[in-house]
Amino acid sequence: MKHIVENDVLRFPHPVLKSTKLRKGKIVEITVSGKVFVLFRDKNQTPRAVPAACPHRGANLIKGKLNKEREIVCGYHAWTINGEGQGYSPSVPKRTCKVHSLKTWEKHGFIWIANKDVPDEAFPDFTNKAFNLIGSFTQKFNAPLKVVLDNFGEIEHAFQVHKFIGASKSKLDTVTFSVKIEEEQTRGFSSCEYRKQPFFFRWSYGLKSGDYYHNDWVFRFKPLHGSYHNYWTDKPNTVVRSNEFIITTFMTPITATKVDLHVFVQMKIKNRILRLFSPIIRFFTLLVTKYEIWEDARIARFAPLNPEDGNNWKLTNLDKQIFHNRKKTDTIYYGKKEYTEAIYEFTE
Ligand code: FES
Ligand SMILES: [Fe+2]
Repeated sequence: MKHIVENDVLRFPHPVLKSTKLRKGKIVEITVSGKVFVLFRDKNQTPRAVPAACPHRGANLIKGKLNKEREIVCGYHAWTINGEGQGYSPSVPKRTCKVHSLKTWEKHGFIWIANKDVPDEAFPDFTNKAFNLIGSFTQKFNAPLKVVLDNFGEIEHAFQVHKFIGASKSKLDTVTFSVKIEEEQTRGFSSCEYRKQPFFFRWSYGLKSGDYYHNDWVFRFKPLHGSYHNYWTDKPNTVVRSNEFIITTFMTPITATKVDLHVFVQMKIKNRILRLFSPIIRFFTLLVTKYEIWEDARIARFAPLNPEDGNNWKLTNLDKQIFHNRKKTDTIYYGKKEYTEAIYEFTE
């Protein structure tokens, strides 16, 4: 077996927690790729992140408390660790130390972390100026990272798993899908005749019967995230309907079988009348997105625990992107030095 070197994934910024979940005076434990950290707000309310293991003898700092200076006081022997990672002992004041504190950002309603030396330019640029960010949330997946990754690299499951995206079962022959593989990203382009929906949904989205649904996405690896542009057109693909949204899903690996999916939803409503109803339409869109991603998480739980297995799978053209995503995850995200490419056969 080849020796594989994996780099620390925190050389890229990762979203880890919704801002509102880190309240003043509280300490929150988070895990990224098996490494455990604690988050807290300093005197300026800036989020801080340090390793959860106390530098003295490893007690979990989640059991500690914040003092008036908003430094963590360990619950065991009361060593103090501040947001910069400076630690000292109250019993032996000369004994000081420094732990690896992380860099944090508070952006788009989330707290993000990365290694201290990561520049601001490395922050993933996923917002589109023509769209408004209408909300964000976290969905937990009890599945290995590769299973979650695969789920977000294909559209075939839409008619079976989802209610609001994709075609109906009787219109699967209208589904088209293609991929484009680039150096640092992969793209997916899908379209189909849109499934039947209740009147309110069709009206609030400005849809007409026979319209086509499109989901075009780009998947990037620094860190792992896909941005899915959802929009509708008339059948000849000449008129784009009023409402479009972009769902961006960041995959933060927690352990070998757990992934936190942090989701950001951006929306554009072109129709002036529909715009008057934008609070309702946005709320509804966010609710639908939450529901659909919950459905993804629900089915992903049943995936095999050994996601490396893929050699015996019976693949089709619709699965084409997933192995490119797996490869780029290994080489770009994990920075593996060696990669043995498996050979897969696809049926068109
Ligand atoms: S283990 Fe934290 S102060 Fe001793
Ligand atoms: Fe899905």
